[in-house]
Amino acid sequence: MSSNRDQFTSKIGFILAAAGSAIGLGAIWKFPYTVGTNGGSVFILLFILCTLLIGLPILMSEFLIGRRSQADAVSAFKKEAPGKPWFLAGWLGVIVSALILSFYGVVGGWILSYLFRAVTFQLNGGSEEHYGELFSSLIANPWEVIFAQAMFMFITIFIVQSGIKGGIERAGKWMMPALFIFFILLAIRSLTLDGAMEGVKFMFVPDWSYLNMETLLNALGLAFFSLSVGVGAMITYASYLPKTETITSSAFNVAWMNIAISILAGLVIFPAVFALGYSPAQGPGLVFIILPAVFEQIPMGSVLIIIFFILLLFATLTSSISLLEITVSVFVKDNYEKRRSRAWIVGLVIFLAGIPSALSFGVWSNIFIMDKSIFDFIDYITANVGMPIGALAFSLFVAYYYKTNVTKAELNLPNAGYWLWRTIVCVIAPIAIITISLYNLFA
Ligand code: PHE
Repeated sequence: MSSNRDQFTSKIGFILAAAGSAIGLGAIWKFPYTVGTNGGSVFILLFILCTLLIGLPILMSEFLIGRRSQADAVSAFKKEAPGKPWFLAGWLGVIVSALILSFYGVVGGWILSYLFRAVTFQLNGGSEEHYGELFSSLIANPWEVIFAQAMFMFITIFIVQSGIKGGIERAGKWMMPALFIFFILLAIRSLTLDGAMEGVKFMFVPDWSYLNMETLLNALGLAFFSLSVGVGAMITYASYLPKTETITSSAFNVAWMNIAISILAGLVIFPAVFALGYSPAQGPGLVFIILPAVFEQIPMGSVLIIIFFILLLFATLTSSISLLEITVSVFVKDNYEKRRSRAWIVGLVIFLAGIPSALSFGVWSNIFIMDKSIFDFIDYITANVGMPIGALAFSLFVAYYYKTNVTKAELNLPNAGYWLWRTIVCVIAPIAIITISLYNLFA
């Protein structure tokens, strides 16, 4: 292997990077709003099942492909299966991850805008309607959203091209726990508001009328999105992993932390939603409206919210850099000296591709694709179509292309665990993904 290719020097470095990629807007922004639009408890249950039973085994598969091949998401398949069409799955991942980043940058921009408002003390002292209006006026302002999106993308590209990624990920060692502690404190405040129990019921008392294939597809899509599975992000990261490190425990750590942060984010948002009289089904604005309202109820809230948005920005950036890294590493391959210029070009293209999403809450809010706004459409199609197809391809690849003795040695699991994993990636996950997807396509 060329000495120019970066490598994680420790297992903890890799876990932090992988957890940093996974934990981001998926857990903190998308989880609450999709739980809200999918009726609460049953969706949460399905999300946890999809994460553990389908997402986790596929995450292990991606780690395996990446570590074995030591190559980017496209070259990995060319190396491991020369002359076969598997590399197309890598290209699909490139396209889907670029599309995800296109709208991820928009939400990252909202976080920057909110951080600016927090620093200038505009986020406190309002009535309940105030926070709804604040969000609506932000997303309807084309210049601000595009400027903020550009800034967010600039920071993402800057980190990816400058090689300080490792430093950012190591900073995650204390930033992530800090965010975790914040969430616990916020959850306690939210849970002690008058009327908070309604929110807890919404999250944990099942309303079985929501148990249907559409909810299941949404839960599966969120599980993939949240774990960064199905686009090659984890293949790319694991390709920087020395062959000696174990991947199974890393995958477990990523999965449980992601579930924990998601549930915690829900426990911050939903009790407050019901206590303060908001609707849970607001869509993408939910956390931006509720969070400032919760901070309002906390002593020193106007200062704490600044720290909170800095941590949130940080968590978002550790995911966006992994999204950009997928495409950049494919285009850089062995031309390390081209890394900088490629990162800027790829990043610029993705930023431009995100502008329609940025505008789809304001000036372009009257444009619909299959009954969805441009933003919602790209969000939906990436998580619910692109990622499942990618995940299916990766699991089939590992299941049917690698020999049993190879995967057994790589995963280093006890026998029962190994066969459970194998049955899932060979049979259960493919059948589940195909059935859920086809059902939603044709039913
Ligand atoms: N998992 C990230 C999040 O939850 C998003 C992501 C998806 C990152 C796919 C990389 C690849 O925010």
